[in-house]
Amino acid sequence: MSDQASAARSSDRPLEDLDQWEEFLQKRYPEEEASQTIATLKDKRQFRDYRKEARPSVAQFYKLNHTHQTYDFVQQKKRQYLSLDKKRMSIWEAMAYLNTLVDDSDPDTDMSQIEHLLQAAESARADNQPRWFILTCLIHDLGKILCLWGEPQWAVVGDTFPVGCAYSDRVVFPEFFVNNPDYQEPRYQTDFGVYKENCGLDNVHMSWGHDEYLYHVVKDHLPPEALAMIRYHSFYPWHKEEAYSHLTNEADHQMLPWVRKFNPYDLYSKAAEKPSVEKLKPFYQELIAEYFPGELRW
Ligand SMILES: [Fe+2]
Ligand SMILES: [Fe+2]
Repeated sequence: MSDQASAARSSDRPLEDLDQWEEFLQKRYPEEEASQTIATLKDKRQFRDYRKEARPSVAQFYKLNHTHQTYDFVQQKKRQYLSLDKKRMSIWEAMAYLNTLVDDSDPDTDMSQIEHLLQAAESARADNQPRWFILTCLIHDLGKILCLWGEPQWAVVGDTFPVGCAYSDRVVFPEFFVNNPDYQEPRYQTDFGVYKENCGLDNVHMSWGHDEYLYHVVKDHLPPEALAMIRYHSFYPWHKEEAYSHLTNEADHQMLPWVRKFNPYDLYSKAAEKPSVEKLKPFYQELIAEYFPGELRW
């Protein structure tokens, strides 16, 4: 690789691994606060500056994300990926495929992607959640295979937000949006932008990432609650910060409690003991077969 190419590559990958974003989320939204009401939390959060807790690599990651996630970029990625003609594979094959994503971090302490998925699912199972809920936990991050197809980290993970309208100051690191070309486009900088009041999130283009992509892969096979959990699990400005209510509709209000219910399984299910993939495989293969055909288009 030329020096220029490797410089471009490393500047595209400020995070050592994708988990660094999720570790930062755990600090931003600590577990002891998870069950408290948003009203109680607002006061507390005002006194806490997540910027101070963020590693420089995380800030750099959000700078890239907020700079490059434009309305046009999102349309281009939708054209590129939503025809679902990249690969055909089963859910379990996609889990194995995602697991080939090599993390640069210490393999002894960090969970592999498949282990994160199994732990989230096992926690939901231990809580007697419905079978579709457990399955949703199992698959929720499979969209991260975008990384294996050459997408930079900032186009795969990170909090998501609507494009094509004014940015909320409740999006993490909102100050980086001044670098986004859309910031200079008056039609994208009103509260509603290209959207109508309370048009519903279904009609809103979100910044591109693993949530939106996986939603399109699985949308014909799961109940609406599961699809909302998948599609909006990284939309922290909505499900944690209550922003963008001028764009949501009644259907979104119905789904919000489910998106919130899912969040602790994503953020706080990392147990010390790693789940045994081989032991758990029969249970999960049966569960997958209840909802999905043997092969899906990716
Ligand atoms: Fe995720
Ligand atoms: Fe996750």
